Amino acid sequence: METRFVNEGRTKLEVPDPQRFQTRAGDYAPSLTHVFYNPRMELCRDISVSAVQILAKELGNLRVCDPLAGVGARGTRYAKEVEGVSKVLVNDRSSEAFELINHNIELNGLISLMEAHNEDANTLLWGNRGRFDFVDLDPFGSPAPFIDAACSALIRKGMLAITATDTAPLSGTHARACLRRYGAKPLKTEYCHELGVRILIGFCQRVAGKHDLALTPVLAHATQHYFRIYLRAQKGAQRSDEVLKQQGYVSHCYACGRRVLSHKLVPELPTTCECGNQFSHAGPLWAGKPMDLKFIQKVLSDLREKKFKLAQEEFALLNQCAEEAEGPPTFYEIDEVAKRVGVSTPKIAKIIAGLRKQGYFASRTHFSGTGFRTDAPFGIIIGIFRSL
Ligand SMILES: C[S@@+](CC[C@H](N)C(=O)[O-])C[C@H]1O[C@@H](n2cnc3c(N)ncnc32)[C@H](O)[C@@H]1O
Ligand SMILES: [Zn+2]
Repeated sequence: METRFVNEGRTKLEVPDPQRFQTRAGDYAPSLTHVFYNPRMELCRDISVSAVQILAKELGNLRVCDPLAGVGARGTRYAKEVEGVSKVLVNDRSSEAFELINHNIELNGLISLMEAHNEDANTLLWGNRGRFDFVDLDPFGSPAPFIDAACSALIRKGMLAITATDTAPLSGTHARACLRRYGAKPLKTEYCHELGVRILIGFCQRVAGKHDLALTPVLAHATQHYFRIYLRAQKGAQRSDEVLKQQGYVSHCYACGRRVLSHKLVPELPTTCECGNQFSHAGPLWAGKPMDLKFIQKVLSDLREKKFKLAQEEFALLNQCAEEAEGPPTFYEIDEVAKRVGVSTPKIAKIIAGLRKQGYFASRTHFSGTGFRTDAPFGIIIGIFRSL
């Protein structure tokens, strides 16, 4: 295999030579390589490094597992760049990946801190029950097949980070695949990516319930082609029940754009909207807050210290997440609302200012550059659009 060296953060990585794996259009196609390494995920990995640093500061002596590692980019970076990590177990079932993982461990002088494995991720996780403070699931496509084993491998107070690239099923383009994988119904709405993230979180929480484990999201973002979520674990049936109480459904009216949130796992769903049209439903999903403002602020402050090469993009994303963290579920697309009201599209800043002036929560959202989030009743939103 032809390889080359790249730098991410303070880590040097030997990766398949991207020049050798290009599509006809000239894009780098990680899926064509023998061993997976996607340079476009560097931002995601940088944020993960800071998230793991926050956990390490709190728990100390962190034991980390990267069970779907590719070249081992994540695991190697955690071992090299995070203070307070005591062991990193890195695994991939591909023998070529295993070889590169070992090169990367040596290249960074991490033999005493890291352990490379070459087996099925689920076998590895089930064989390490209750051993890890941080498990990072970064698969091709859906993480669903690995959640159960990952929950069993987590310790109390640990953290589970998950990437999902099957955003089409989760966002409603392939609804049947979403039902099959996540036991939930998605909905193709303007906020379908947010619904997808909430469905993913909700699924993980229900799987964790089997282990009497509560998973509470502290950060969630939808970026490029993937969703990324960070879930904090707490042991206990009661705590797990409390988390499940915050699952529910979103009922959406395609005629007028109104949404109703039902905060119950076994709910009585509304059938008819105030406009007379029938509601469509999405769920079950996590209806609570998908982010924790304090956690985001800690990650941001760690990123400020680390000054990664993608710092500006990372600050922009996390500042946006911080702004919307305390907001309610679902957001509105400014064009959609303007079209329904029959007015020309106003400036988003004016809408947000108008809503805040009336005492409501209002923010932009990282899910869409033209979206706004608010807890104002539908009628108030319409009124503000008319008044501008
Ligand atoms: C998306 S890539 C990982 C990328 C890597 N985390 C990174 O940040 O560069 C997914 C990896 O999981 C491996 N994989 C897929 N299914 C697996 C399984 N059941 N057990 C172990 N490894 C698996 C693949 O060989 C591939 O290298
Ligand atoms: Zn309606």
